Amino acid sequence: MSDDLAPHGLGAFAASMFDIRDKVAIITGAGRGLGRAITFGLAAQGVKVFLAGRSQKTLEAAAGELEELGAEVGLQPTNVGDEDDVIALKDAALDRFGRVDILVNNAGINPYYLPADRTDLSQWQELIDVNLTGVFLCCRHIGPAMFGHGGSIINMSSIAGQVGLGRAAAYCATKGGVEMLTRDLAIDWARHKVRVNCLAPGFFETDLTEGIQNNPALSDKINQQTLLGRMGRLEEIAGAAVFLASPAASYMTGQTLCVDGGWLAR
Ligand SMILES: NC(=O)c1ccc[n+]([C@@H]2O[C@H](COP(=O)([O-])OP(=O)(O)OC[C@H]3O[C@@H](n4cnc5c(N)ncnc54)[C@H](OP(=O)(O)O)[C@@H]3O)[C@@H](O)[C@H]2O)c1
Repeated sequence: MSDDLAPHGLGAFAASMFDIRDKVAIITGAGRGLGRAITFGLAAQGVKVFLAGRSQKTLEAAAGELEELGAEVGLQPTNVGDEDDVIALKDAALDRFGRVDILVNNAGINPYYLPADRTDLSQWQELIDVNLTGVFLCCRHIGPAMFGHGGSIINMSSIAGQVGLGRAAAYCATKGGVEMLTRDLAIDWARHKVRVNCLAPGFFETDLTEGIQNNPALSDKINQQTLLGRMGRLEEIAGAAVFLASPAASYMTGQTLCVDGGWLAR
């Protein structure tokens, strides 16, 4: 056993904890919202980023900005609920960068604020297809590309994966499913050196929460319930994703990291 934590000095120790330079990450839903913030956060650490999402235009806009900032970038229009698309995404990323070390399953939707008794089967299925099947398909096809050399998978859950929110039956069910899929994958893939964790945001200012942001009574209620008294800002999700991807989290798998301004503390 060595107790020499910093043989090359504290500066080198600090740098090595978060050193993910030249790693390759695939990020779904990378063109906007939290996925875009995470993509910029990873690129800021020197990660080569491969962007996926349905809208080619949105992906190209984000990729263009990243390239101007000096990042190495690739992209592939992808519907994460479509298995052929996900296989094409994996192939395109491997063609571009030759390996994958980090997978961020961020793509997700929540277009309805409905209780179960007013949720149509088609609405339920739409959320399952993207939020749960999409995460499964990306893990299923991209995860094995990390076997052997190892890697980090970050699945976007939500506080809705931990507690019911009300009027969000399908959304909560998908996020609870993502949490359990994550734990089961963590068991199966630890032997392949692939860590699998969830990131669970509280309420952040994105297109997904536009309905809340435009409803002063609802946003006041949410802010009151949030210990820090406000919604999260985009840049406040990036560090947690960098942490989970980095050597600083090398002893973490099968866990959920909540970034929720204290919502779940009550
Ligand atoms: N914002 C929050 O407060 C909050 C809280 C907890 C959890 N989350 C989770 O965080 C993730 C990102 O949310 P966000 O707030 O950033 O949402 P957003 O701003 O609405 O962005 C959603 C992203 O997902 C992509 N996407 C949607 N359907 C897709 C599909 N079928 N295939 C591929 N990409 C798809 C979208 O790109 P295209 O439209 O181009 O496909 C977009 O980039 C979601 O999983 C969400 O559930 C968000």
